[in-house]
Amino acid sequence: MLINKDYIYLDNAATTRIDDNVLKEMIPFMSEFYANSSSSHLMGKKVKNEIVNARELVANLLNADASEIVFTSGATESINAVLKGIVANSDKTTKPQIITVATEHSAILNTCKYLEEIGFEVIYLPVLQSGILDIANLKNVISERTLVLSVMLANNETGVIQNIKEITKIAHQFEALMMTDATQAVGKIPVDVKDLDIDFLIFSGHKFHAPKGIGGFYYKQENKFVPLIHGGGQENNRRSGTSNTSGIVGIGKCAEISLNQLDQDIEYIKKLRDRLEQELLLIEGTFVNGHSAERLHNITNICFPNIEADFLIGMLRNICVSNGSACHSELIEPSHVLIEMGLSSEDAFSSIRFSLSKYNTQEKIDYTISKVKEIVNNFQT
Ligand SMILES: Cc1ncc(COP(=O)(O)O)c(C=O)c1O
Repeated sequence: MLINKDYIYLDNAATTRIDDNVLKEMIPFMSEFYANSSSSHLMGKKVKNEIVNARELVANLLNADASEIVFTSGATESINAVLKGIVANSDKTTKPQIITVATEHSAILNTCKYLEEIGFEVIYLPVLQSGILDIANLKNVISERTLVLSVMLANNETGVIQNIKEITKIAHQFEALMMTDATQAVGKIPVDVKDLDIDFLIFSGHKFHAPKGIGGFYYKQENKFVPLIHGGGQENNRRSGTSNTSGIVGIGKCAEISLNQLDQDIEYIKKLRDRLEQELLLIEGTFVNGHSAERLHNITNICFPNIEADFLIGMLRNICVSNGSACHSELIEPSHVLIEMGLSSEDAFSSIRFSLSKYNTQEKIDYTISKVKEIVNNFQT
């Protein structure tokens, strides 16, 4: 039987290990300091202060004001809250249109599908072969009728990074709100909401070494939206429900660690990713999906033509990698992201995502390289 240290975990775009220092910080809020942060007694106040502190730390990571951060259960809830909240606050007769991109995460695509069902017009823009949004195409369809434009910052399957600053400028020229799903970017690369001039930005803790079940969104103060969850008025009336204290403390600590270590983590992880990528590209016929675009330093999505990804994943045994996004891995459809980038179904089915973190080592990356080469060689002979 495999024990934990035998796994080589290269699926960090799906979820990450909690940082030990984050876990240490969280535990007292599940045992010693378990009060409800809305209670006015001493323990309640202690817990409330920790939430205030965590909100500041997350705001620092994003260059936001603490009052602009709303904690939720994660990115999916945040996306639902923001899109449905904007729509509920809008006038459908003057602004009936939503624009997004065909390569977005299913949390965006399926929320948009629902908004279509209730009468909004949704445009799903195509991408170029690189995975980058075709700006000329966007300029053709956006108009004063556009309520919100939603474009992800970094793609979860390929790591392809969109030019959100430029896209936001276009949205604002038409008085459309600009939202970005930055779930794969926050905590990994610098994200500055002021520099981007973004209206809404989505993040999730478990993608950058905080626990699952905590995330949130940034919103620019002047923007109005109707809360998705009504109740006791927590989160300044923007998301009700007893606060997930330990999760909030955890994401706060994570934000602090990420901010302090960003440059060195990027350098360390990129070196490992580049080594993995360069070595796997030596295998005949392989190519990197999205190679011509700017990409996150921790992801490489490689096509091994004529070898089914499911077969490779099975043969890799204790090396944990992914074919497409985790939410889709039980489906037998090719990745919609890769298809939109122009891949054939066969090549999409033969593509694997390797996503790294600060916990990977050169030794394990070298082992992975040799294992993949061995499997492919045996398959071809
Ligand atoms: C880009 C992107 N958006 C949204 C989500 C959903 O995140 P969560 O698990 O926090 O709901 C994910 C996670 O897979 C993601 O990668």
